[in-house]
Amino acid sequence: MRIFSGIQPTGRKHLGNYIGAIQQYVAGQDRGDAIFCVVDLHATSVPFEPAALRESVYDTAAILLAAGLDPERCIFFRQSDVMEHTELTWLLCSVTSWGELNRMHQFKDKAGPQRELVSASLFFYPVLQAADVLAYRADEVPVGDDQRQHIELMRNIAERFNQRFGETLVVPEHRIPEVGARIMDLQFPDRKMSTTGGSPQGTVLVLDPPEVVVKKLRASVTDSGTEIRRSPDKAGISNLIQILAAVRHTSPEEIEREFEGFGYGAFKQAVAEAVVEFLAPVRERYDELRADVEGLDRIFDTGAAKARPIASETLGDVRAAMGFGPVRERL
Ligand code: TYM
Repeated sequence: MRIFSGIQPTGRKHLGNYIGAIQQYVAGQDRGDAIFCVVDLHATSVPFEPAALRESVYDTAAILLAAGLDPERCIFFRQSDVMEHTELTWLLCSVTSWGELNRMHQFKDKAGPQRELVSASLFFYPVLQAADVLAYRADEVPVGDDQRQHIELMRNIAERFNQRFGETLVVPEHRIPEVGARIMDLQFPDRKMSTTGGSPQGTVLVLDPPEVVVKKLRASVTDSGTEIRRSPDKAGISNLIQILAAVRHTSPEEIEREFEGFGYGAFKQAVAEAVVEFLAPVRERYDELRADVEGLDRIFDTGAAKARPIASETLGDVRAAMGFGPVRERL
């Protein structure tokens, strides 16, 4: 089984990314043939600074390696190093409908706040994401809940391509965790935790020092009740239950049982301590990994050298199926 996922470059990766996605990437290395990339091309769909972008790619790489991605056990690379992603994006556009792209929630969410330019790349973002996955003929895509619509779109694109040009691409499945697929902002628990749409106080960064993590969790917004149990009118407490269950690898029911009769203060303290402990190994390893830029470049070079032949084989088949180049026997 082949697993593929991508993550945007930023040093401000948060607890939602870690629980919803990064944890699954690390586990994916034991479950299959795993491929991960830092999607720097996607990052150009909103305003960016070239020098900062390059640095952010290293930040993200160091976070992922510190979290347990092992370049010996997976293919880990920088998206822009493998040109096939951009070529496939254009080719897939012919089987992507404008209407589908126009219905993407993320486009609407991200286009709204842009003051100067809503770039066409923001609109085509999901096609590049489809190309990322389809280029590797991946079976499974570990992501958080917010990527559901993007995965549905890439499935439609792959199916439409196969119907139109013959069986060429693999239709991937999403893998969304049962617990922690949508971690919410600690201050505004009706919004997902995010460094772009959330609040700074409500967003726990993977690299936040322990005292900051404790402060943010202790200050998290709850309701005026007392019971530690999930309910639609208790979004804050429900979110904390999810977080604790995810970092302890247990179920929300188990957390509710364990904390029956506890007050909110004691519960928040327990969540804070568990999150600090959960993030500690990443923080400990990060600085050393991040300082070694040459080492990170070597990892990226090796990863791209392994990724390229896989993507290039798919592209060969896609090009042949679509009628480019000389007549070629399809393997
Ligand atoms: P990015 O970098 O924004 O997010 C990385 C992963 O984190 C998950 N995530 C969350 N999970 C739980 N709770 C949250 N609050 C939360 N916020 C984010 C996201 O679902 C994601 O899995 N479009 C992708 C990047 C991408 C990609 C791909 C993913 C590009 N190409 C190919 C899969 C396959 C994104 O926005 O990542």
